[in-house]
Amino acid sequence: MLILGIESSCDDTGVALLNGPDEVLYSQVASQWVHERFGGVVPEIAAREHLVSLDPLVNDALSQAKVAAKDIDLIAVTAGPGLVGCLLVGACYAKGLATRLGKPLVPINHVRAHVHGALLGIAKKERRYPLLALVVSGGHTHLYAMASPTEFELVAHSLDDACGESFDKVAKLLGLGYPGGPVVEKQAKQGDPKRYPMPTPVKESARMAFSYSGLKTHIVNLLRQEPLTTAKDKADLCASFQQAALNHLTRKLAKAIEQYPDTEAIVISGGVSANQAFRRLAEAELRVPVHFPALAYCSDNAAMIASLGYYQFQQHRAPSYSSWDVFSSYPYSSSSTAG
Ligand code: KG4
Ligand code: ZN
Repeated sequence: MLILGIESSCDDTGVALLNGPDEVLYSQVASQWVHERFGGVVPEIAAREHLVSLDPLVNDALSQAKVAAKDIDLIAVTAGPGLVGCLLVGACYAKGLATRLGKPLVPINHVRAHVHGALLGIAKKERRYPLLALVVSGGHTHLYAMASPTEFELVAHSLDDACGESFDKVAKLLGLGYPGGPVVEKQAKQGDPKRYPMPTPVKESARMAFSYSGLKTHIVNLLRQEPLTTAKDKADLCASFQQAALNHLTRKLAKAIEQYPDTEAIVISGGVSANQAFRRLAEAELRVPVHFPALAYCSDNAAMIASLGYYQFQQHRAPSYSSWDVFSSYPYSSSSTAG
């Protein structure tokens, strides 16, 4: 089955062609560096950039994979969550193409698809369910219990900021630029994580929730009382913050394993899963196998959209979503409780 995946929820235009759920024939992302000078994504500009990149990328996918548009069996497109203007560009394009080709279209939840990005890099025999899947990105910190590729039970989510967002905010406070994760990680490598004691978020061990605004507020207050003067101060603060942020994720994952004792594996995805210190910590602390995605599938891409699209289509045998109203809603809810 040939699946065309389309991703346009934020500032990356992604197009992928998969043969079945995990054979990637083509996956490319056009990243929008234009936002760098604004220190964050400008939604209007992002939507217009998708409009420019999408059609050429789809044509490139077809010519690189040596397939014709009529050979596509299924189109999967990100339906949310994301920036509405950006989602509309992808959804309207996909809907138009599906209508022209007479092919089924499946709307995909972006957060859930991240899990399938991580699964893409894992050998089939190691993908054992039930598993726990953590998505840690700039917009979400979601932990799911999964009994199959399409069953997502939301176990925990952030009560406030997402983990990646807190890296971005701390980097901004320290004047380190955007996105914050990679620069904070780089600084943290030279720093002493014990220098600045940090609060422990969501202390109650049984409470399955994440929280990141407290760490950020603590750093705002600390900078007011004690401005950082040397490069070593900055590195130490990054190391202290990063350790607290990653310990919080690992502690809650360990608790979830206790609550779901049949768990066969942990899958971690989303931008923060690129963090090498997190990879080492999770592998050392958790007593079930931990899988991280190949770096190409950590951040936003369309291969993950196509892969989940395959499973969703198999499960629902969905007819074309030709009546799907892209302007007001999408069928796979992104609300924090439904995940
Ligand atoms: O999944 P993603 O590419 O986009 C969405 O938010 O959906 O995640 C981006 C987030 C940003 O907040 C970025 O700072 C964070 O992932 N990130 C990292 C690292 N690389 C990216 N956070 C910590 N350490 C990293 N190495
Ligand atoms: Zn994402």
